[in-house]
Amino acid sequence: MKVKPFIAGLSLLVGTGVIVVSTAGTGSAAATRYEAESAPATCAGLIESNHAGFSGSGFCNGDNQVGAAAQFTLTASAAGTATVGVRYANGTATNRPADVVVNGTVAHAAAAFDPTGGWTSWITRTLTVPVNSGTNTIRLSPTTTNGLPNVDYLDFEAGAAPTASPTASASPPPGRPPECTGNSPITCRFAVSPGNYTVTAWIGDRASAGNTSVSVEARRRLLPAVSTAAGTITPYVFTVNVRQPEGQPTGQGGNGNPGLDVTFAGSAPKLSGLTVQAASNPLVVYLAGDSTVCDQMTAPYTGWGQILPTHVSAGASIANYSDSGESSGSFLNNSALFPAMRPRIKTNDLVLIQFGHNDKQTTAAAFRGNLTSMINQVRDRGGVPVLVTPPVRRQFSGSQLNGTALHVNGVGVDLPAEMRRLGSSLNVPVIDLTAKSEALVESLGVTNSAALYLRSSVDGVTDNTHFSEYGAGRMADLVVQGIRERNLPLVGYLR
Ligand code: GCU
Ligand code: CA
Repeated sequence: MKVKPFIAGLSLLVGTGVIVVSTAGTGSAAATRYEAESAPATCAGLIESNHAGFSGSGFCNGDNQVGAAAQFTLTASAAGTATVGVRYANGTATNRPADVVVNGTVAHAAAAFDPTGGWTSWITRTLTVPVNSGTNTIRLSPTTTNGLPNVDYLDFEAGAAPTASPTASASPPPGRPPECTGNSPITCRFAVSPGNYTVTAWIGDRASAGNTSVSVEARRRLLPAVSTAAGTITPYVFTVNVRQPEGQPTGQGGNGNPGLDVTFAGSAPKLSGLTVQAASNPLVVYLAGDSTVCDQMTAPYTGWGQILPTHVSAGASIANYSDSGESSGSFLNNSALFPAMRPRIKTNDLVLIQFGHNDKQTTAAAFRGNLTSMINQVRDRGGVPVLVTPPVRRQFSGSQLNGTALHVNGVGVDLPAEMRRLGSSLNVPVIDLTAKSEALVESLGVTNSAALYLRSSVDGVTDNTHFSEYGAGRMADLVVQGIRERNLPLVGYLR
């Protein structure tokens, strides 16, 4: 089965609290399309074509700054009210508001351009504006330093948007499925086998405002809470890996539930539809690591692998085989870990390998040997191995981290240095999370770095090795930075 990585041509016409969902592209016969990449449109930024799904020859990637506008010039046959449909993609997790300026006057202040779920997920936002007879300019002027979303085109049509249309029902939000229960949170359970699934969630509600986050399985975060106005429903698409057990592969902390669990939380979760389909041929990113990476069943412990999915768009999934307490050797040999992961790896899948915390007595030769074995076995499968040096512990000596923090182990082996050397000799990309986290922790200093880890005052336990949800998020950010620097195959799926 072929599954579309995004919902093509779904548009939401927001009228007086009534939602009309229509298929853009078929549109109304009267609409005129003005592409953002060609004159008379102007773009304060770059015309690009690197994110599929746009119309015409590209889109406007505006500079990420206040006022870096995309402007359209269009002709109206008469003065009055017109409907414009702005097709855009916002692959970040944050709204990118813009003033909609018509002939120099703000018609809509800070109109929301909410996340679409990925840079290749294009949707149309429809607005009603006043126009003059003859030539008009419509400028989208971002109000935050994040700039505009990527803008594909503007459809222009005389007359106000219809408030309801019984015929425009090509892709309405399908409604909340019977698999879901509760209101805050909303929990949904699908009886599917282990594998990768395309999950489409229509977030928002026709009648009331919402604030909704999405997570799956064992506290795996897909979307931080997004706010939606009453009448706004946005489809988000994710690719989700289902394992059994759903948390740590050896079952530490519990096995969770068979099948796929999806949880909608936030201060006012709103869900107008949810579908689950088998994903066809996604790029899978396997994580081979320890407790600082793994899917921790129970808060406050959080592995960076649990937050990494918030950075990944549909078409790629994160399969986290990390497990608490594992060293390079135990991971390699435990049948629930590397041997379970290995046969699933397919051509071009990434395998991020992070060990060190539990290699306290491992000799340099054994450490290199274990990592080399994993690298070779990943390559035998056609996969792409990546070494990730371990994140630091919070152990200071004065204003700097000590050797234990930096993973110089009990037999004097500088484990991160071994990984860097091995990476260059075997031509394996290295994400130097030790160096990146060292810089972060030292720049925050003794006091302010505490929030990255577990603190008794907040978490009921003091632990300078394991991360809080906040700290795991900062580590995931550093890993994403490394993925971009190394230009790994996941780059095209980062949001
Ligand atoms: C990424 C993306 C661009 C986008 C930019 C942004 O670089 O590839 O298309 O414009 O983010 O955040 O604005
Ligand atoms: Ca941009």
